[in-house]
Amino acid sequence: MNRRAFLGSTGAVALGALAHGAPGGGRMRLAMVGTGSRGTETWGRELVSTHSSHIELVGFCDINPKRLARAPGYCGVNAPTFPAADFDRMVKETRPDAVIITTTDCFHAPYVVRTLELGANAICEKPLATEAAQCQAILETEARTGKKVITTFNARHGNADGEVKRVILSGDLGRIISAEFHEFLDVRHGADYFRRWHGKKRFSGSLLCHKASHHFDQMNWWLDAEPEQVHGFGRVAFYGKNHSFRSTHCRKCPFTSQCEFYWDITKSQRLMDLYVDAESADGYLRDGCVWDNDIDTYDSMTVEVKYANDVLMSYSLDAYMPYEGQTIAFNGEKGRLDVRMYQAQPWKVDAEAEFRLTQSFKGTKTWSVKSDPGEHGGADVKLKDLLFRPGTPDPLGKAAGSRAGVMASLIGIGARQSIETGKRVKVSELIEFPHMWAW
Ligand SMILES: NC(=O)c1ccc[n+]([C@@H]2O[C@H](COP(=O)([O-])OP(=O)(O)OC[C@H]3O[C@@H](n4cnc5c(N)ncnc54)[C@H](O)[C@@H]3O)[C@@H](O)[C@H]2O)c1
Repeated sequence: MNRRAFLGSTGAVALGALAHGAPGGGRMRLAMVGTGSRGTETWGRELVSTHSSHIELVGFCDINPKRLARAPGYCGVNAPTFPAADFDRMVKETRPDAVIITTTDCFHAPYVVRTLELGANAICEKPLATEAAQCQAILETEARTGKKVITTFNARHGNADGEVKRVILSGDLGRIISAEFHEFLDVRHGADYFRRWHGKKRFSGSLLCHKASHHFDQMNWWLDAEPEQVHGFGRVAFYGKNHSFRSTHCRKCPFTSQCEFYWDITKSQRLMDLYVDAESADGYLRDGCVWDNDIDTYDSMTVEVKYANDVLMSYSLDAYMPYEGQTIAFNGEKGRLDVRMYQAQPWKVDAEAEFRLTQSFKGTKTWSVKSDPGEHGGADVKLKDLLFRPGTPDPLGKAAGSRAGVMASLIGIGARQSIETGKRVKVSELIEFPHMWAW
């Protein structure tokens, strides 16, 4: 059976079953590992406020006892907490239908694998994995246990994201020959990655996994194609060693009045409660220095991808830009689509995407697409509807399983490997795909 037939017959059905509630029609029982910002906000407090008639949070787990203790109250539920060492006990005692995995990136895959082995489904934040061996383990465990993985690619769910897919499906561009994706992260949002664990490759797999997995997934989904070869360049060109100011973290810094990147975490009660109050348990400094000598996550990178259907894609990400935004383009045999999004600040609610479709020997059409109110331009609540509200339609195929998660991760992992070795990477040599999924 080829890949497309397999996904058509099995993948969609399995995802559909997971997305349409608990067996027997009750509320879906959800446990959570990783009670940080994304976990307790998006998949905790907000999910409880909007989807309580379909879900129930039944347990929380984290490696930091202080953040863990705060989670049930913050989410507005009365569910038990379990230290990370007792993850198995949480799953056995609380019997979740699915575990939501919102830990630091490098721990996603081990928790996905253990969740499936313990008989629950896994709903995992991006990136699904930061290492090739983790991708292999997830695919093999899913095949062995029959349990399912959902990768929460909310970046498929914005209004502009759906519009790109619709233009490509309309055939106005004809066969797509090449594509471009350029990501600009600004001196606030971009810099913030270098204050946190994201600035160390061992935790995030670099921004090629952590951040770009959204963009690689979007491209894979828009093109309905899978990557075959990857090449990358990357540098720590701005943050890290590239300045003479240096401290452990902003609160203890002697350069606060001179450093443009000084950031005062004490102004946010939420961040004080979530991170500063929990510092004594693990030493994690949320307001770490962006000039830390140990930063090894690239802040400037380019990636070339050749897809199995011969589409060529060029990608770049720079994380020290004066403004935030993206430019995306598709070159087809009948024309070119340009999409531009510039945001005055990250996730600005009224962000607008400009679309420009030019057909060869014909004319140019321009229009704009506004995002909706809410987190990530309304994308987060749409993803939650798809996962938890029975009967939510999915005409553009936005539900993403393990294969989508693995493919996005493998582009980032391959690009990182290419940067480190100077060699082009064949995706099929990074992992052995289960037999039925071979190209
Ligand atoms: N899709 C999106 O738009 C989006 C947005 C933000 C974050 N995220 C994802 O959510 C995840 C969490 O991000 P965050 O901003 O909440 O980070 P965070 O640092 O606030 O939270 C991570 C939590 O994981 C815990 N943790 C770390 N290692 C652990 C382990 N081995 N076992 C159990 N718990 C462990 C930490 O103590 C912390 O509470 C990341 O993977 C990130 O990529 C996705």
